[in-house]
Amino acid sequence: MATAKKAPVKSARTSVKKYSNYIGGEWVKSSSGEYFDNVNPADHSDIVGRFPRSTAEDVNAAVEAAKSAATKWRRTPAPKRAEILFKLGEILRENKDEYTVQMTREMGKVTKEAGGDVQEAIDCTYYTAGEGRRLHGFTTPAEMPNKFAMCVRQPVGLCGLITPFNFPMAIPSWKLIPALVCGNTVVLKSGEDVPLSSLNLVKACEQAGIPKGVVNLVNGFHEPGAALVEHQDVRLISFTGSTSTGRIIAEQCARDNKIVSLEMGGKNAIIVMDDADIDNAVEGSLWGAFGTSGQRCTASSRLIVHKKVYKKFCDKLVERVKKLRVGNGLDPNTDVGPVINQQAMDKILGYIEIGQKEDKATLACGGNRLSKGAYANGYFIEPTVFTNVKRTMRIAREEIFGPVTCVIPFSTFDEAIDIVNEVAYGLSSAIYTQDVNQAFYAMQELYTGICYVNSATIGAEVHLPFGGTKGTGNGHREAGTQVLDIFSEWKALYIDYSGKLQKAQIDEVEI
Ligand code: UN1
Repeated sequence: MATAKKAPVKSARTSVKKYSNYIGGEWVKSSSGEYFDNVNPADHSDIVGRFPRSTAEDVNAAVEAAKSAATKWRRTPAPKRAEILFKLGEILRENKDEYTVQMTREMGKVTKEAGGDVQEAIDCTYYTAGEGRRLHGFTTPAEMPNKFAMCVRQPVGLCGLITPFNFPMAIPSWKLIPALVCGNTVVLKSGEDVPLSSLNLVKACEQAGIPKGVVNLVNGFHEPGAALVEHQDVRLISFTGSTSTGRIIAEQCARDNKIVSLEMGGKNAIIVMDDADIDNAVEGSLWGAFGTSGQRCTASSRLIVHKKVYKKFCDKLVERVKKLRVGNGLDPNTDVGPVINQQAMDKILGYIEIGQKEDKATLACGGNRLSKGAYANGYFIEPTVFTNVKRTMRIAREEIFGPVTCVIPFSTFDEAIDIVNEVAYGLSSAIYTQDVNQAFYAMQELYTGICYVNSATIGAEVHLPFGGTKGTGNGHREAGTQVLDIFSEWKALYIDYSGKLQKAQIDEVEI
């Protein structure tokens, strides 16, 4: 592995900017008066900014603001709402480079990926804004004569959005933009490790002319998140994050009869068949596993490889992985950035230890924290590959969310499909093969929300539904037009126009 160069980040000693919450169209401090540091995970002496440590009181104020703005926003025609969102898309596009660098600094992912993240927010904004001129309902025949029946979408009301660290602008946009185009008002609780990217998005909303109170931003940790989930005036919670937190949120929402949309963990797998183009499969596995330091719910954390090509695949993969350059994401030569924080690093290293102890898996490369020289102040872990992994091992079944992947051998196609499907999650899967029959059979049998052929488990596009089966979610899909089913409710409309018509006209059609 190549060593990292010190990247050009600002010194921690320069004055650190303080940021605010955004409530009712005003930038305000938290009622606690306290702040927390937004820390660069590549160099924790670099403080990106100080953000308000918000309380339940701040959430209450944000909810009040969102309530006050609700009627006017709901009554604003959807094409008009969309017009403002197109303007938002323009602002995001104009500021893409600045957002990208700021994102890498607060989150760690390499700038190429951070740029992709901002681009995903831009794409989501344009695509979803287009729904302002569609938001299609439908008409259908009514049972009675001279009666008309149709179905339209209506906003659900006040939406609470809780977002994670790994896609600091894309994921907030997946929730915020559809919520707005459908006519809802919003309180966003940003991910505590990446508050600047959410703030950039919300600031752009302000600049685009979204009316005061329609979008509100509250920064902080558990307290504002819990207060949002528990607030009686919040109608919907949309959450992306860990399965354990998602479960707690779902339970609370069930008690309060709130709509809840959850996007949680994954243990995504790539099947490599014996007829696969091995170089292509290695390339896909490399980026699927180690892109974003493996911190994607779509990460390729299991590589299920046919015994006939197992050795060849492992040798080529390990050779490539050893050459990955770990370092500060701001350095253009870096391939793999740090992980997000100390807690994440400890968890990942814990799994590496479990993998080494468990049942003779082979640690083929990596396995260590990098802490010397330029790595000293960051949360860096060597890209790690376990080979000869058995399907029953914990590293093959539990989500690690870090730069660790395991290679599992198989003999028959059905066995490979069973291995993919037997875990608790069902987000993304992939198969590398040149046989069209095998490809279609896999598309049919792999029980995941997303499935790729000859490409890794990552790289979902915003105009297709995103989400997973089983433990990954609760049946909802973000992105695509499917997201509209989260942020709008159906209203059936019946219009009886028989009133002034002659009874004879009606009788004619009666049977
Ligand atoms: C996530 O990891 O939560 O498909 C989202 C991908 C990205 C989105 C991942 N477009 O990998």
